[in-house]
Amino acid sequence: MTERIVVVAAALLDGDRLLAARRSAPPELAGRWELPGGKVEPGERPEDALVRELREELGVDAEVVERVPGEWPLKSPYVLHVWTARLRPGSPAPAPLEDHDALRWLTPERIWDVDWLDQDVPAVRETSARLGTR
Ligand code: CDP
Repeated sequence: MTERIVVVAAALLDGDRLLAARRSAPPELAGRWELPGGKVEPGERPEDALVRELREELGVDAEVVERVPGEWPLKSPYVLHVWTARLRPGSPAPAPLEDHDALRWLTPERIWDVDWLDQDVPAVRETSARLGTR
């Protein structure tokens, strides 16, 4: 069996609002919304990978809070893990620097207003269910 490669994605929170990011590439994913993140590199801690990806993609200084339980399959060999995160004090506001062309902070009642990537839907559902019971 091929080793699986973890893709970490952030449920970046501002109070009860969740950040959604619209992909600008590749063409088959462009226009769909995702939890921002990326591949964990060999030897890298997933939390560190997430902070790195958020800095690269959004220009923010974020801290990881906790893992959202679950693992969701992406195109083999990738699997998606989600962590909640928040901006550190003094962090720049998120900006769509690479991979994305729009960002939205979604309140809980607006969470399904955007066209999430199919593979992100179960992760967003689990995340929002947990946030609702905090
Ligand atoms: O930035 P990096 O190249 O490490 O990763 P990426 O290209 O942003 O994401 C790696 C793979 O995970 C791609 O196939 C993305 O489509 C997928 N992905 C996803 O399905 N859902 C996310 N929330 C983040 C990434």
